[in-house]
Amino acid sequence: MIEGDKVFIRQLELGDEELLHRWRNNSQGNLYCGFKYGFLMSKESFRLQVETEIKNEDVFPPKKMFIFCKKEDLTPIGELSYRNWDKRNRSAEFGIENGEIKDRGKGYGFDALNNFIEFMFNFLNLNRIELTTLADNHKSQNLYKKLGFKKIGIMREASFDSREGTYSDVLYMDLLRKDWDLR
Ligand SMILES: CC(C)(COP(=O)(O)OP(=O)(O)OC[C@H]1O[C@@H](n2cnc3c(N)ncnc32)[C@H](O)[C@@H]1OP(=O)(O)O)[C@@H](O)C(=O)NCCC(=O)NCCS
Repeated sequence: MIEGDKVFIRQLELGDEELLHRWRNNSQGNLYCGFKYGFLMSKESFRLQVETEIKNEDVFPPKKMFIFCKKEDLTPIGELSYRNWDKRNRSAEFGIENGEIKDRGKGYGFDALNNFIEFMFNFLNLNRIELTTLADNHKSQNLYKKLGFKKIGIMREASFDSREGTYSDVLYMDLLRKDWDLR
């Protein structure tokens, strides 16, 4: 369990497919990820995903998903994950969604990511954390900048974006451990 000021972050458990099914298929919630209709995935596909994760006995798998919950009443409100863990270069990517739209803008995402970054550096022993985001996803970029991420490049028209049925630019950002330690 990872404990922040406002959230607890826990591993996936049986039954979390209900949450993922609701959050990922919410078209409004995923608009700035370029998924106008949500992910359109069945509850069963999320159940299989959860089942695969919880059966994994590796303490350090190359990718893993987590749920963050409000500390005050343990209500699950969002998901975090790391993936593409490159063990030689000690880097990985991450993703975050505060799935409960009514609970956005209240500091939960910041607290969750702040503590997840600490976990990625100190538990996974990463040296560099990378992310991609659509170039007009300014809310998430503000969050990443607030945590010290730097813009490192743009891939032009790299993502087909269902909002308009056109290609969107993708922004790359990263955070180095030495910069994080200097905060
Ligand atoms: C990005 C996201 C995770 C932020 O979660 P949240 O719980 O709303 O974030 P917080 O309330 O902790 O806000 C943290 C910071 O994010 C930025 N932010 C959040 N909401 C914002 C808004 N409406 N407008 C501009 N910046 C915003 C701000 O920098 C904010 O810090 P501040 O309050 O000091 O200004 C959430 O909006 C989300 O899940 N979005 C949809 C999924 C997504 O885009 N994921 C990222 C894909 S790359």
